[in-house]
Amino acid sequence: MSKVAVVTGAAGGMGQAIVTRLLADGWAVVGFDIDAEGLAAMAQDGFAAMVVDLMDPEAIRGAFAEINSMLGGVDALVNNAGTCFMSDFPDIPEDELERQMQLNFSSAFHCCQAAVKLMTGRDGVRKIVNISSNGAYNFDVFDPPHYRASKAALDTLTKDLARRYATEKIAVNSIAPAMTETPLFGVLTEDVLAKAVAAMPHGRAMQPEEIAAWVGFLMSPAGDVSSGNVIILNQGRDVR
Ligand SMILES: NC(=O)c1ccc[n+]([C@@H]2O[C@H](COP(=O)([O-])OP(=O)(O)OC[C@H]3O[C@@H](n4cnc5c(N)ncnc54)[C@H](O)[C@@H]3O)[C@@H](O)[C@H]2O)c1
Repeated sequence: MSKVAVVTGAAGGMGQAIVTRLLADGWAVVGFDIDAEGLAAMAQDGFAAMVVDLMDPEAIRGAFAEINSMLGGVDALVNNAGTCFMSDFPDIPEDELERQMQLNFSSAFHCCQAAVKLMTGRDGVRKIVNISSNGAYNFDVFDPPHYRASKAALDTLTKDLARRYATEKIAVNSIAPAMTETPLFGVLTEDVLAKAVAAMPHGRAMQPEEIAAWVGFLMSPAGDVSSGNVIILNQGRDVR
């Protein structure tokens, strides 16, 4: 029987590429997203869609309870859902700060809490992959501070859980991509986007499939020995 992976933000640019990669690698994939239409368009063997509002911890707990009764547990979780709100300091509205932290950090936190309970007793090394961002580390790029902070918090969660669950064989890593061509590019003005893409050493944005390949690698047996790492993918842009 296939191992079960949950992918959040499954209907987004990166999410769809991750789902495709994991299905090709033989995983049974459950995709969470708020975009019901987007999920419906992804219907295929091995993929179960669940419309979940990740801003709602109760909805997250309910979704994992349903997975438990449907599939009997979870072997892997990819916390991919997220966005980048673009108001800038010192005029970031209070509710935008709350929503940024809730979607990019708290939703992953709640998913991890629910998922680790369902990983108990499963075979082999179980996996959590958190999709972070270069924005947490590179202060030359445009990212506003609440976005950076949400991803830095996510990476600290990665390290805590990696340490906490090492002997229980749950491997937890972050992947922190730079400019990757997805609908999220829509939050940027043309000028900011053009400058950010031009700063990529290969002269082009990365493709979601290139990031998904790294997720697939961490989720494969080769990834069993990596835990607590933040893997930065940016074509070498920030090497000094
Ligand atoms: N695209 C990039 O350049 C880039 C760079 C670094 C990090 N990232 C990270 O990659 C991840 C995926 O981003 P993407 O580029 O695919 O963006 P995207 O906008 O294409 O996808 C985000 C997905 O999250 C879903 N979502 C939003 N709010 C939700 C909610 N409340 N409940 C459930 N689902 C919700 C959306 O419906 C969408 O399908 C994000 O965490 C983002 O921060 C992206």
